[in-house]
Amino acid sequence: MCGIVGYIGDKNAQSFLISGLKRLEYRGYDSAGIATLSEKGKATLIRAKGKIANLEEKVAKNKRSDTTGIGHTRWATHGEPSEKNAHPHKAGSIYLVHNGIIENYKAIKEHLKDHEFKSDTDTEVLAALINSFYSDGKHSLADAVVQALKLAKGTYGIAVISENNPDEIIVARSGSPLVIGVGNGETLIASDASALVGHTKNAIYLKDGEIARVTKDSIEVKTLNSEPVSAKVEEIETNLAAIQKGGYDHFLLKEIMEQPDSLAETLRGRIDAKNGTVTLGGPGLSESELRRISHLVIVGCGTAYYAGVLAGYYIEQFTPGITIEPVIASEYRYKQSYLPENSLALIVSQSGETADTLACLREIKKQGIKTIGIVNAIGSTIAREVDGGTYVHVGPEISVASTKAFTSQVIAMVMFGITMAQAKGVKNTILRPYINEIAKLPTEIKKVLDGSADQIKKITKKYTKYEHGIYLGRDVAYPTAMEGALKMKEISYLDANAYAFGELKHGPLALVDDRFFEVAILPKGHLYDKAISNVQEVLARGGHMVVFTNEDSFDLPVENVVKITTQLEIFAPILMNILSQLFAYNMAVAKGNNVDQPRNLAKSVTVE
Ligand code: M6R
Repeated sequence: MCGIVGYIGDKNAQSFLISGLKRLEYRGYDSAGIATLSEKGKATLIRAKGKIANLEEKVAKNKRSDTTGIGHTRWATHGEPSEKNAHPHKAGSIYLVHNGIIENYKAIKEHLKDHEFKSDTDTEVLAALINSFYSDGKHSLADAVVQALKLAKGTYGIAVISENNPDEIIVARSGSPLVIGVGNGETLIASDASALVGHTKNAIYLKDGEIARVTKDSIEVKTLNSEPVSAKVEEIETNLAAIQKGGYDHFLLKEIMEQPDSLAETLRGRIDAKNGTVTLGGPGLSESELRRISHLVIVGCGTAYYAGVLAGYYIEQFTPGITIEPVIASEYRYKQSYLPENSLALIVSQSGETADTLACLREIKKQGIKTIGIVNAIGSTIAREVDGGTYVHVGPEISVASTKAFTSQVIAMVMFGITMAQAKGVKNTILRPYINEIAKLPTEIKKVLDGSADQIKKITKKYTKYEHGIYLGRDVAYPTAMEGALKMKEISYLDANAYAFGELKHGPLALVDDRFFEVAILPKGHLYDKAISNVQEVLARGGHMVVFTNEDSFDLPVENVVKITTQLEIFAPILMNILSQLFAYNMAVAKGNNVDQPRNLAKSVTVE
């Protein structure tokens, strides 16, 4: 949510800032801006409403050879998307970019009576507060930032420059990521390492409560209490190909099509189908710790939550005596709920930075419960704060809509469940079918993508006329339906909702009319016949249904059916979810929407 970049060195700052912001645009895209300083400290501030392209146009008309600067792409929290609310914000001689929320901005603003505020943002208040210390001439810029941050409540990742000293940038973080790229005669700043790829391989990931003063050839990290920190320089693992579209029209399509490979990465070295074993090093739990777990709470938001619900259905199937509690992080964080002894928490997050999920992690840790991360972004805050974890290793997911992460999150959690069941003495005959199917899943996903992508594209055209979608499923197909509906509403802006098939008669059946279409997720299995009865109930009321199934004999007169041929039974819903991903993608394209950056959303939700 929002992106920060910064540059100090000998090269053109404007050009790094614009290219870095383009890389981070998926994090927020309602306005953007940059501020650069000349050698003598003359500042140039350029801001624009809307996409980075708008900013780029303005910069092209106002080129500078400045070699120090900061930039920001915004997802509005306080104040509408507009040029005046775009960052950087200026106060006196300083310019500030900020990710996060300053919660006590109103109280601070009241104390800054002399400052003439020009925007509606909390960030400008922080800028003015920093300036109130800096302008007294007694504080260095770094000291002024420290004083201000000691008074500010909330979350922040910030970068600050001053016209008085073009040779330094001050950065700090608390609850919002900041990475310092260590270059050769240059230092780069970003809120996400992907902006640094191609410029440097070495980075320092700032920790909460740390502040750094960077020049083109030095980085000095301290705590807010002025204790020096010997920061670790780490290697950035992402490569350029992983953050480019690679010939696809959209990142979303690339990420859907990547799933055979991204899931193979999740499985690499962890699953041994020949011997029927799963080995996960990351969680770091002993056999006896695994054996003792009787309550598994699974925490996530959006797609990560649905991944938890689906994984929970699977883990329950093969783990006797376990209670599984998937929870929505934004709800759970404020619940007065005490986990029973022998609980374990799985913390699920693609970005590893989601504010609500992070808050739950911290609350759960306070109860003395062990936490295991199911995270994609390496080195992210959640990955650092959990007691152990299993990275899903799907590579950067750029499109705001999560696809490849979902598939791998589900399977990573099921693999964790298998290791737990193994430790609990669950017989191999019970676990073996799961292990065998997981091992085959990447190939089966490829078959579905190769075999059904064109059919889904054709079918989608017939459904563009509807205003609403109802996604239906039972058992494991129910969370699959929930995830399908989320994808559809997120990128096509169609009102799409999911219901458990059995719930239809309890209300949602009243919706069925010519404004609605229905998507039925129909895997083979013990509830197939029951779901077929539900399909008939919808058809009897004139439903406009598309069915995703692996049952060859399905022959009801629905408008459209996509039959997949697969060796899988247990994990067939994962394949059907991929059909839902393609359906939503084609719908969004047909509607002319911005597929990768849907309106009002941002990739990483770092504010509450
Ligand atoms: O980074 P996270 O996995 O923690 O993100 C959680 C949700 O914000 C995310 O899955 C969101 O629902 C997606 N945009 C859905 O496609």
